[in-house]
Amino acid sequence: MTQSTTLKPLLRVLAGETISPPPVWLMRQAGRHLAAYRDLRKTEPNFLRFCYTPELAVEATLQPVRRYATDAAILFSDILVIPDALGQKVAFEEKIGPVLAPIQSAAEIPSLDSDCLIKHLAPVFETVRLLRASLPDNVALIGFAGAPWTVATYMVEGRGGTDHGTIRRWAYQDEEGFSRLIGLLVDATTRYLIAQVAAGAEVIQLFDTWAGVLPEVQYWRWVIEPTAEIVRRLKDACPGIPVIGFPRGSGALYPTYVANTGVDAVGIDTNVPLQWARDNLQTGKAVQGNLDNQLLIAGGPAMDAEIDRIKAVLGSGPFIFNLGHGVLPPTPPEHVERLIERVRSSNQ
Ligand code: CP3
Repeated sequence: MTQSTTLKPLLRVLAGETISPPPVWLMRQAGRHLAAYRDLRKTEPNFLRFCYTPELAVEATLQPVRRYATDAAILFSDILVIPDALGQKVAFEEKIGPVLAPIQSAAEIPSLDSDCLIKHLAPVFETVRLLRASLPDNVALIGFAGAPWTVATYMVEGRGGTDHGTIRRWAYQDEEGFSRLIGLLVDATTRYLIAQVAAGAEVIQLFDTWAGVLPEVQYWRWVIEPTAEIVRRLKDACPGIPVIGFPRGSGALYPTYVANTGVDAVGIDTNVPLQWARDNLQTGKAVQGNLDNQLLIAGGPAMDAEIDRIKAVLGSGPFIFNLGHGVLPPTPPEHVERLIERVRSSNQ
């Protein structure tokens, strides 16, 4: 166990330390639940252009850090900047979400021009540089990307909210062709993350929001193998960079993910039992999670009790307090303030 007191709390936990109270940040802590974000968005209604405007992305990143004094800032961007940078048509439509011109066969897979990709995403790296220069000393800067499987679901299905039938059938019927799409995403994502770290990101989180829809064999092929490859190449290029994996919905496959991907910490969704996570995941790795995002909307004594229970069970090992999925738009900011205060209070 490392005993550095100079490191930021989040980085200490990722290096294996147990800290009380645990560091806390929230997935999707920036965005529509904050009036300040809704106002800022009015100045640039095109969401991708908003993401590619460093002064707006910096401000959106900092809003929750200022308001809640979280232990981490997460770069304001989106997982779908990768398909956009690869030349796929990507739009964000109000009340629908992302809409993409779907890729449904190997013939339609774009090829990777790395220089072009990095040039297209240059504003994101500029945002990272500006953030790193302006964050308080104790706040860690998290960069991120979608994991290949999850990004591919949007590229192939063309939108969210489907049963992922099209992509799952493609992966079964033309494994070789589909593996080229995943390989392209491994290459592009690795380049993208290395450039984020070069610009100043101190931690990387890989969001695999739809990992949980895959059966065991496909989970190995499309979640574990690509993630392990990205983590291996990223750590080769950027020695010591900590990686948090969030393979949402992995259930009984969580320990397999932790043992085989090389991540330093694992984000657990709301459904994962706490004692099971302590006994099966927190052995050697940090765990991050997992308050129900609906309970953050509900608030009140039920939220307080669950915060206390999560801290009591997972707080005796390396632990980062977070939600089990992202903050939802109807969340009252006062409930977030209450959560942070409760996580940091030591009177339990
Ligand atoms: O604080 C932060 O985490 C901000 C950065 C961030 C965004 N998206 C901004 C965003 C991050 C880390 C993401 C990740 C993301 N994007 C994921 C993985 C995490 C998860 O929640 O599962 C996924 C699947 C996406 C794809 C995506 N982007 C969807 C499905 C949508 C529409 C639905 C929704 O939640 O809004 C988006 C849009 C999006 N990404 C918004 C924000 C703030 C809302 C855009 C707006 O202002 O209208």
